[in-house]
Amino acid sequence: MAVAVIVGSQWGDEGKGKLTHYMSPHYEVTLRFQGGSNAGHTVITGGRTFKFNLLPSAILHAGRTCIMGDGMVVNPAHLIEEIALLQKGGFWQDNLRVGSRAHLVLPYHILLDELEEKRRGGSSIGTTKQGIGPCYADKYARIGVLAGDLLKPDVLHKRLEVVVPVKNALLRGLYQYEPLIDLEALYEELLEQGKVIGPYIADTAAIVREHIDAGHSILCEGAQGALLDIDYGTYPFVTSSHPVTAGACLGTGIAPGDISRVIGVSKAYTTRVGNGSFPTELTDATGEHLRERGLEYGTTTGRPRRCGWIDLVLLRHALRINGASELAITKIDVLDDLPTVKACVAYRRKGEIVTRTGLADAELAQCEPVYEEFSGWKGPIREVRSESELPAELTSFVDFMEKQLGVPITVLSLGPDHDETVSRQPKL
Ligand code: GDP
Ligand code: IMO
Ligand code: MG
Repeated sequence: MAVAVIVGSQWGDEGKGKLTHYMSPHYEVTLRFQGGSNAGHTVITGGRTFKFNLLPSAILHAGRTCIMGDGMVVNPAHLIEEIALLQKGGFWQDNLRVGSRAHLVLPYHILLDELEEKRRGGSSIGTTKQGIGPCYADKYARIGVLAGDLLKPDVLHKRLEVVVPVKNALLRGLYQYEPLIDLEALYEELLEQGKVIGPYIADTAAIVREHIDAGHSILCEGAQGALLDIDYGTYPFVTSSHPVTAGACLGTGIAPGDISRVIGVSKAYTTRVGNGSFPTELTDATGEHLRERGLEYGTTTGRPRRCGWIDLVLLRHALRINGASELAITKIDVLDDLPTVKACVAYRRKGEIVTRTGLADAELAQCEPVYEEFSGWKGPIREVRSESELPAELTSFVDFMEKQLGVPITVLSLGPDHDETVSRQPKL
C-alpha cells in the first residue's frame, strides 16, 4: 500500500494535471481533495488536449477509480458538463465517485463571489469567480448543501429553507441585487441534477479505506498551490481551502501516517494569477517572453498570468509545509532560448539579507529578490528523453536548485505532452 500526494508548490498552475495523468496508471485510485472549478488542470496525450476543472486528471484511464473527495466544493451543473464532454468524445470510462460530504457550489455562491469582488474594488482578491470562497464560508458556517443531500429530497429542501433567506437578505441588503434566489426553482433544478450525478455519489472515505486495507496504491491530486493555502499562503490573496498535503487527509479521510510519498510540483520559473505581492515578478520583456512562450493564460479564466523567475525562498517554505519527499520541475523548455536564467536565493528587506520570510502580503511586498544567475542552454530540449542527453547548463541549474532546496528533484517536465517527461536521479 502506498499513498502519494501531488501538491502545487507555488501559486497554482505548476503542471499538476500533467504529472497526475503521467503517474496515475501506477495507482488504483486517484483523488482530488480540495478546491473546485477554480482549478484548471491540463492533460495532453495522444495528440489531444483535455482541461479538467473538477474531474481528477486520471479520469481517462479505464479501470482506475477516480474520486472527488469530501473536501472539494462541487458545482453540479459544471460537473454534468464535464462528464458530458467526455461522453461526447468517447472518453468516458464511468470510473467516478463523488464524496457525499462534498459541498455543492450553487448559483448564489457564484453570484456572491462576483458581487463581492466588485464591492471590494481596489482591494479585490482577483478570484476565479467560481463561487469557491462563498461555498467554503457556508460550509464552516454550517449552512452548506452537501452532495449527499441530492439523494434525499426532504433533507435538501430543509437545507435550502435555512440558507436561501440568508442569501436573499445579503443580496437585497448589502448588494441591492435582484432577482433574488427562488427557493423552489433551485430545489427543482437540484433534483434534476441529482438524477444525473446521484449514481456517482458515495461514502468515498469508506471506499478509500477499503482500497487502503486491500493494499492498493492511491494518488491524491492537489489543486491550487501551497502559496494559496488559506492559512499558510499569502493571505488574504489566497484561495479558501488547504491545497497542502495536510489537506489531502482532511479532504479524503486518509490518515497522515498512510502517506508515504509527497511530490511537490514547481515550474522552472514562477507565475501568479490574481492579485497580491510577487517579489520575483518581471514586468519587462523577459516576463512577456515567459508568458508568450509558456502560454501563460489561465486555464479556467483565460486571464494573463503574471510571470517571473523561480523563487527558492518561497519554494523552500512550500516544500516544508507540504513535507515534500521529492520535487518535479515543469516547463523547463520555456527557458530554452534565454541567454541567462535566474533563481532567487534570498531577499533584501530593510537593508538586511534574509533567506526566509513571513508570507503576509505586506511583508512580502517589502522583499527585493537576490538572484543567482546561470548560463542558459540556448537550444530546444523537448525531444530529450533521458537525463544523460540534457545540456550541461541545464543540469547545473537543476543541481543548484536541488542543493538549495534540500529536496530530491526526481522529475523534469520538458514539454506539455505526457511523453515530454524525464526521470532524474537525485544527487542528494
Ligand atoms: P495545473 O493547474 O497545475 O494542472 O497546471 P495548468 O494545466 O493550469 O497549467 C500548466 C500549463 O502548462 C498547461 O497548459 C500545460 O499543458 C502546460 N505544461 C505542463 N507541463 C509543461 C512543460 O513541461 N512544458 C510546457 N511548455 N508546458 C507544460
Ligand atoms: P490550479 O488547480 C492558479 C487563485 C485565483 C485568486 C485566488 C483566489 O489550476 O492550479 P478563488 O477562485 O480560489 O477564490 O481565487 O486563487 N487561484 C488559482 N491560481 N491556479 C489555480 O488552480 C487557482 N485557483 C485559484 O486566481 O488569486
Ligand atoms: Mg491550472
